[in-house]
Amino acid sequence: MRIDVISLFPDFIQTAAAVGVVGRAQQRGLMQVTAWNPRDFTHDNYRRVDERTFGGGPGMVMSTQPLRECLAAVRGASAERTHVVYLSPQGARLTQARVRELAVLPRLTLLCGRYEGIDERLLEQEVDEELSIGDYVLSGGELAATVVIDAVGRLQAGALNDEASALEDSFETGLLDCPHYTRPEVDAQGSTVPAILLSGDHGAIARWRRQQALGRTWLRRPDLLARVSLSAEDRRLLDAFRRHYLAPSKDDPTA
Ligand code: ADE
Repeated sequence: MRIDVISLFPDFIQTAAAVGVVGRAQQRGLMQVTAWNPRDFTHDNYRRVDERTFGGGPGMVMSTQPLRECLAAVRGASAERTHVVYLSPQGARLTQARVRELAVLPRLTLLCGRYEGIDERLLEQEVDEELSIGDYVLSGGELAATVVIDAVGRLQAGALNDEASALEDSFETGLLDCPHYTRPEVDAQGSTVPAILLSGDHGAIARWRRQQALGRTWLRRPDLLARVSLSAEDRRLLDAFRRHYLAPSKDDPTA
């Protein structure tokens, strides 16, 4: 997959894409992240990319010409058509389902705004989709673009060392993930690990994990729980979790 990012801070994008899973995916040749600076497509001595907003008011707006020429160069960098995404708080909220769809595209272009945003005409003419990473305002699209690159990058085949673990991640199942533990069995504060995880009973461990995922989603994200269809076994596990949560006893809730 090829991802091009249009940003006034190309070094930030390249640095973020050089570490961790995405950095490794690039080294393995599974994806390529290229940053483009619209300032390189200006024609004036000041390399100006912004102008005052028509109609008055505070703040500056990114003007169409440098972005249009930058986008033309991006589109021409490879024969494949690219899907152009503008990151902004006005976009549709990014979900794991949308990430999965974006991850199978051969090309993606992420357009980052600064200041008050980008001249609406450029967005209408050049952008296929507007995405937001959450209901809060960032000072530019760069952090959001790196979020998209990471979420999409880790889904490239061969990017993760353990592909199976990705399938159990939060949201992939429609539920939050279960808790995880590692050595030591008793930590420095005397806190122990749930005994079932040390039992070696793989069936019981799988049931416990499913129950924890269901229970956590019920506690923390009831909106998600309302959207997944639960099996009879899921209902039984969740009922036991709820009973245990509402009236804690020493009994194992995995009844
Ligand atoms: N740019 C500024 N805020 C943003 C957000 N919440 N999501 C995506 N891009 C943004």
